[in-house]
Amino acid sequence: MANKSPKPLKITETILRDAHQSLIATRMPTDLMLPILDTMDKVGYQSIECWGGATFDASLRFLKEDPWERLRKIKAGVKNTKLQMLFRGQNILGYRHYADDVVEYFVQKSIANGIDIIRIFDCFNDLRNLQAAVRAANKEKGHAQIALSYTLGDAYTMKYWMDMAKKIEEMGADSICIKDMAGLLVPYQASELISSMKSVTKLPIQLHTHYTSGVAGMTYLKAVEAGVDVIDCAISPFAMGTSQPATEVMVETFKGTPYDTGYDQQILAKIADYFRPYRDKCLANGLLNPKVMGVDIKTLLYQVPGGMLSNMVSQLKEQNAEDKYYEVLQEIPRVRQDLGEPPLVTPSSQIVGTQAVFNVLMGERYKMATKETKAVFRGEYGQTVKPFNKEVQKKVIPGEKVITCRPADNIPNELDKIESEMKEWKKQDEDILSYALFPQVATDFFKYRQTQEEKIDVTKADTNNGAYPV
Ligand code: CO
Repeated sequence: MANKSPKPLKITETILRDAHQSLIATRMPTDLMLPILDTMDKVGYQSIECWGGATFDASLRFLKEDPWERLRKIKAGVKNTKLQMLFRGQNILGYRHYADDVVEYFVQKSIANGIDIIRIFDCFNDLRNLQAAVRAANKEKGHAQIALSYTLGDAYTMKYWMDMAKKIEEMGADSICIKDMAGLLVPYQASELISSMKSVTKLPIQLHTHYTSGVAGMTYLKAVEAGVDVIDCAISPFAMGTSQPATEVMVETFKGTPYDTGYDQQILAKIADYFRPYRDKCLANGLLNPKVMGVDIKTLLYQVPGGMLSNMVSQLKEQNAEDKYYEVLQEIPRVRQDLGEPPLVTPSSQIVGTQAVFNVLMGERYKMATKETKAVFRGEYGQTVKPFNKEVQKKVIPGEKVITCRPADNIPNELDKIESEMKEWKKQDEDILSYALFPQVATDFFKYRQTQEEKIDVTKADTNNGAYPV
């Protein structure tokens, strides 16, 4: 179906979140971001994605930075453009399901510290796992965007995506995102997908993909022609490869058409000029590996995200079983079927990948099941689009209770307990949430912060010059 009323395209810039997460393991420090914010604010982007996902963890763990402080500094530098974050449903940004009170408090604090748009997703596309976050975003007057994890498989028909779009609208979301984390969405499929979804919902639709398999630029072209409202791009020095298509390329592609973004290439060039020396530095110090910059066609062949393949290789290496690579590769889709054919995205990608490695190395399928595989079969991650393999379920959790309710219904409120565990470190309310997500990493950071503050106090007393490093 053709798009009958073409309108200017909008772009979300991912350089401050997904682009550096995908290419340089999320290591871009806050100080590098700040000087260019004013210029970025002049482009007229739909939004700047700057927070969530691994940025939070990497800030605390590797950069010894307070992620909340980063958010406040970015907000101070970006006066007009909306700031966007990624939020893993009931997992928030962590790796387990949290009680609703933690989810609500996190949303409240994110918005209070500067986030405008919260993109919320679940690895099973179980919308019940998004309810608490969407409700909280509505309450705090934030923009709640529900992201569907895009995947391929028998269960994922056009009807499935259309039904999901309708349900998302009913849930009170402000927009829909199709989150294609592995770059599996090919151009003509994108065209059909967007027009099908557009035919059943009035909500704006945003498309997020990665360049990994090499088709992303063409996929965006077809999606835009089919009426997609917003696409995610990265400024050229940190574009392509496992990152997003380049912002400047997409802007130029639609110039002079009804989809023209109207963005000024001169401003975009300034932003690219700013980040290029940093890219060169990352290449020189090895943080940016040329391997992630090309086209990885295996993604399309095996329909497995690139990150999952590299995890698998290192797991096999540890076991001196690299010769089992192709066996595991064949086992992955079988495990995925047993688990109800979920999309492969954090954390389901790790769960399926690790179980496949176990199944091959043990010489018998499910002779050993991981803690996470058991939790999936108990229903603790929610509902998958297809039913679980009953025989495997019986083997993995014999006689155990299986839940079918929304998983968080079984998790009692836990905010007070978390606060009491960490109160000796608390300098701001947000610290409770850092600790809730990453207890060990946050505690290490709090200790580091304390020693830094003590050092500064000494410097101040000695020199009395009031210099306070930022
Ligand atoms: Co992404």
